[in-house]
Amino acid sequence: MSGSTTGSSRSLRQLMALSVGSTPVVVASDPHTAREILTSPHFADRPIKRSARSLMFDRAMGFAPNGTYWRLLRRIGSSHLFAPRRILAHECGRQLDCAAMLRAVNRERVRDSRGGVVVLRNHVQVAALNNIMGSVFGKRYEFGFCDERNNNNVISEEAMEAMELQEMVREGFELLGAFNWSDFIPWLSYFYDPLRVNERCEALVPRVRKLVKKIIDEHRQRRGLEKRSIDQLNDDSDFVDVLLSLDGEEKLTEDDMVSVLWEMIFRGTDATAILAEWVMAELVLNPSVQAKLQEELDSVINPPNTTTNNTTITDEMVSNKMPYLGAIIKETLRVHPPGPLLSWARLSTSDVGLSNGMVIPAHTTAMVNMWAITHDPTIWAEPIKFKPERFLDGSSDKYGLDVKGSDMRLAPFGAGRRVCPGKNLGLVTVAQWVAQLVHRFKWVEDPKNKVDLTELMKLSCEMKTPLSALALPRNVVK
Ligand code: HEM
Repeated sequence: MSGSTTGSSRSLRQLMALSVGSTPVVVASDPHTAREILTSPHFADRPIKRSARSLMFDRAMGFAPNGTYWRLLRRIGSSHLFAPRRILAHECGRQLDCAAMLRAVNRERVRDSRGGVVVLRNHVQVAALNNIMGSVFGKRYEFGFCDERNNNNVISEEAMEAMELQEMVREGFELLGAFNWSDFIPWLSYFYDPLRVNERCEALVPRVRKLVKKIIDEHRQRRGLEKRSIDQLNDDSDFVDVLLSLDGEEKLTEDDMVSVLWEMIFRGTDATAILAEWVMAELVLNPSVQAKLQEELDSVINPPNTTTNNTTITDEMVSNKMPYLGAIIKETLRVHPPGPLLSWARLSTSDVGLSNGMVIPAHTTAMVNMWAITHDPTIWAEPIKFKPERFLDGSSDKYGLDVKGSDMRLAPFGAGRRVCPGKNLGLVTVAQWVAQLVHRFKWVEDPKNKVDLTELMKLSCEMKTPLSALALPRNVVK
């Protein structure tokens, strides 16, 4: 790279250059350079890891190179799976998943001999899997499927399928999230593969293919001879139906469909569950914030002067009537941005000149260190402090800040042409779950198992120790 990166910490923040093996890498830790990288058309590719290629992700949206095929997938995504009308049409499913999660939380709370301790991670993970299964495959599993047995003490076929899927998603995460030196020094893989990444990918792919193809076949059978075009589908149709109804230039091969569908399951499950767990951890650690949120929830769900005992929380409520909830989610995204450096890196397709005179050569991997930006004391006052009010104070320049990619001071979903297409779905889902969990229960730190905010960098940045806390039922019914 030409141009100076030595000397002042400011230019290091702008861009740090290094080599990982034989791969040139730059890391941007300031909002201006981050914007130039993320929105540049010369950075619309992603470096693809060996594991991602082996797991068929090179034909999925997140890793497909910039070009006709990737643009087609983005178009299908924005006009179908992630279109506002489709997200809205799946609201009912989201509420069902959420109600099932609350029942499962309550069961665990009641069973606990210490007075109501609940380990939240498993619940949000199952809810996330079910939620995305509903939108993508049009299929939901019974909550608590792990305990589900018939009268002969045999696990049902459905429960087996759900458990297999959950296990496959977990294995995929480990493989994709693992740091693999052979991504940077390709010949190394012949000698050094301590995590057996190649072997495990080879074992996982046929299992994924078999399961996803089975679901596609079920849809084909259900559709039968009745061939519906994309315009004839209902808004709440699932993504498999959408892909099967595409025609002409938009039609995908079956293998491409498997890759696209598998990626959606994969991404949708991980990010939402991790974000929800971080939000709840911060609420346990900040009881006054939790209490203020409860006040907001009560006032919107059962406003004064009403006589109904409403417990329904709609998307409209969480998106438009609960600013404090929105601020809590933003603040959590700031303090714990889930997307770490490596998994969402970009790749330059030609030499790129930046406005500060630096030139990044073609084929350089570029990463944005969003964590550094969201903890930069020159941008954020008291950056370590969890303070949702910073987004609500009309005199603050963070008032109403947009987190969806237009303001690089907080861009947890990336920005530019490869910005996360699932951002609205992810945000509304997490808001719905947090609202319900906090409306039904007061969450208190378990003295024997304190909340540990240590981060673990995998595919996303997750809590190292699963969150467990006391769930005390609130008297929400008037
Ligand atoms: C709520 C939490 C979520 C967070 C924090 C998150 C974060 C991100 C980030 C940082 C990127 C990279 C953007 C860039 O390069 O500029 C990304 C891309 C992507 N996300 Fe998300 N995401 C979330 C939810 C979802 C959901 C629910 C889905 C789908 C069901 C999804 C699907 C994708 C896909 C397919 C890409 C790749 C887009 C492309 O390369 O064209 N994400 N996400």
